[in-house]
Amino acid sequence: MTSQPPRPELPEWLHLQQLANAMQKRHLREFAQDTRRARHLRVEAGPIILDMSRQRIDLPVLDGLIRLAEQCDLPGAVQKLIRGDRVNLTENRPALHTALRQTADSALLPEQQNIIGDVNNSLAMMSRIVERLQTRQWLGYSGAAISDVVNIGVGGSDHGPLMASVALREFVPAESSHLNMHFVSSIDGTQLSVLLDTLCPETTLFLISSKSFTTPDTLANANLFLKWMLESHDNRTTVLQCHFIGISANDAKMQQWGIPADNRIPFWEWVGGRYSMWSAIGLPIAIHIGMNQFRELLAGARFMDTHFLETPVTANLPALLGLTAVWNATFLGISAHAVLPYDGRLKHLPAYLSQLEMESNGKSVDNAGRSIDYPTSPIVWGEVGSNAQHTFFQLLHQGTHDVSCDFIAPIHRYRGETHHPSLQDQHRLALANCLAQSRVLMLGDDCMDNSEKLPVWRHYKGNQPSSTLLLEELTPFSLGALIALYEHKVYTMAVIWNINPFDQWGVELGKVIADSMNSILAGKSSATVDAPTQQLLDAIQQSR
Ligand code: F6P
Repeated sequence: MTSQPPRPELPEWLHLQQLANAMQKRHLREFAQDTRRARHLRVEAGPIILDMSRQRIDLPVLDGLIRLAEQCDLPGAVQKLIRGDRVNLTENRPALHTALRQTADSALLPEQQNIIGDVNNSLAMMSRIVERLQTRQWLGYSGAAISDVVNIGVGGSDHGPLMASVALREFVPAESSHLNMHFVSSIDGTQLSVLLDTLCPETTLFLISSKSFTTPDTLANANLFLKWMLESHDNRTTVLQCHFIGISANDAKMQQWGIPADNRIPFWEWVGGRYSMWSAIGLPIAIHIGMNQFRELLAGARFMDTHFLETPVTANLPALLGLTAVWNATFLGISAHAVLPYDGRLKHLPAYLSQLEMESNGKSVDNAGRSIDYPTSPIVWGEVGSNAQHTFFQLLHQGTHDVSCDFIAPIHRYRGETHHPSLQDQHRLALANCLAQSRVLMLGDDCMDNSEKLPVWRHYKGNQPSSTLLLEELTPFSLGALIALYEHKVYTMAVIWNINPFDQWGVELGKVIADSMNSILAGKSSATVDAPTQQLLDAIQQSR
């Protein structure tokens, strides 16, 4: 635990509170014609442009946030992260997701001397599996080549692989085109039953992805799939050898479950679950887009790591995105943040970022073990922007809540366009909507010529802050950079708030209680519960 003074006692924190009080009385429309501001609040790194000129930030606030970052020693904290210090204080270990995307010949400090070698071995193992699948040499129990791969995992063992596989589907090489990817995460059996009806056991390969290999959701689904496989072929050893791969930091549990040694791909306790898509947890991505493109994804993330480590805060994308988020959540008291990709390929990005941001920074105890009373992570949710316009944008435009937004869009359209030129128009439409919405959210009625003549229910308040992130185009490299940008944004916020973004103790109790509820529902326990729960149990039992 660190003995730093509580954050609200830092001089710059107090100063920013004063600036926030003044900013609460202003409207974003005041900044509409300020070209200087637009220049200062726009930064670029590699394939990403970040435009923050629609944030409720003026230059004194920006200076204040940068000074706050200095007072919190953000640059020192970034070094600690990347060189592998034990930044995860409650679990006393490093958070070395950046090591997963280092070049093969890089070296870390002595405490982590074996890490890069381990990472390289794991990548080599992934590479061999991908090649066997692509060349149809991975055979099922009947000798037929695998055609369907099912990833069984939840949370960090599902969101990243699913998000990136869908986002990058245009990069599937011809060699992988016969491989269909499926993802099963939910515990209830509904995703799984659809697959049981359509998959062929002879040609299906299951990846059991679980850092802990103890997550009940994943194990319940894996057990059911194993049972289903054994119903069509009763040689357990062959079924496990030909149809199940385990990916976990808990080798003993994988072995206990029955995964043969050759099919167990390790990763490590020093990778957080929600930071793990760069490890073997990313195998579904590698199978889908091939190993070369998976390495491009790693290269994009590595590019952002270097940028985060080496660039002064004033031009550092993750640092500025994080400082802006702290400003919104803590100083302006904005407790909701919408992620709005204007590209259907990024449809799983909002859910991915919900876990990344909220499981990391949904904390109320600081690194010195003190309760904190300043707001930390906002509620993060989202949807493909153009769809969200027809669902929750009404609230953003005319509701009573302040909400900050990230608009995300690729500048260039995707490859399909060359086959279907009219898709260019679709892409232009998406960009037009992206720009229009952030403009209306900023300016409200000022976007109109005749606002006074309209009835009050047709007025737009504006003053909803947003950032726009433009990607050159959506590629494995730019997606890698984008995801690493958000990982480091989250770390920046945690450093400023002095909280640990790498644990998630808050999810543990629910798992224990679910276990006891399951015993009650199965009639194996008559434990007493609270009255509201008992009432629901009664309703369920009566209708069964
Ligand atoms: O319950 C939360 C959590 O631990 C997440 O942090 C994690 O991503 C998810 O469950 C899955 O965990 P595992 O990979 O160990 O199955």
